[in-house]
Amino acid sequence: MKRKPMMAGNWKMNKTISEAKELALALKASAGAETKVDVVLCPPFLAIPTVAGAVAGSNIKVAAQDFFWKEKGAYTGEISAQMIKDGGCASVVIGHSERRGRFGKVEDDLVGEGLGPFGDNNTTVNTKTKAALDAGLLPIVCCGETLAERKTGKTDLVVKSQVLAALAGLSGEEIAKVVIAYEPVWAIGTGEVCDSAEANRVLGMIRGALAELVGDTAQAMQILYGGSVAPDNIEELMAQPEIDGGLVGGASLVAEKFQALIDAAAKARGGCCGCGG
Ligand code: 13P
Repeated sequence: MKRKPMMAGNWKMNKTISEAKELALALKASAGAETKVDVVLCPPFLAIPTVAGAVAGSNIKVAAQDFFWKEKGAYTGEISAQMIKDGGCASVVIGHSERRGRFGKVEDDLVGEGLGPFGDNNTTVNTKTKAALDAGLLPIVCCGETLAERKTGKTDLVVKSQVLAALAGLSGEEIAKVVIAYEPVWAIGTGEVCDSAEANRVLGMIRGALAELVGDTAQAMQILYGGSVAPDNIEELMAQPEIDGGLVGGASLVAEKFQALIDAAAKARGGCCGCGG
């Protein structure tokens, strides 16, 4: 089945408001008319309205990097679904490993699930996914194993349980609206991209888990790969049939690099029949 690719740039804690505007305007100029790829920018909260304003009138969508599921109230430091929507977001990233306290590199083996400073875990990810859907936001739900889990053969177990936990209690109709992003923790920000065939295998496993929940509808769902995606590895990744695009950190911070990723996704899958034509 032909699925439209998505290229989502997760800017993480980078870019001041003026820097964010500059990057968004550059991408609007180069990718604003893109129709073959869903282009999504995920700026820091503070820059969301500015970025949304900068890309207004183009095909580029804006997403938040997180939110809190309560509607409003005494939750110091938090931001609601309604607030990010009001700021111009159509979508939201949920359960990024950095928010689950599962960091790559040094911290990888030091910090366990839910023990990091930001406190996301499978339960909060589930609550946030439901709340995002209720608010009419497209959830981009992250999953991925740590290096220690991979080394001990737990990749599929961990990833599948994260996906099933995130979607627990949702209707088939709701699940169909969710985008899954597989981001092996050890590949994030390390320059060590996951082997494309292995990424494809894990994504296929995820699609199989989705099919257990929603049957053939799983074939239409977008599943992304994230972790050191860059212009020099995107073609190989996009050549894999299960990979529907990328959730990109570092390479999304430079307009030319992110544009190269968008172009590669359009070329690989954006054609009339997936032929690139
Ligand atoms: P990098 O592309 O910098 O490895 O980050 C990936 C990521 O975590 C995107 O959410």
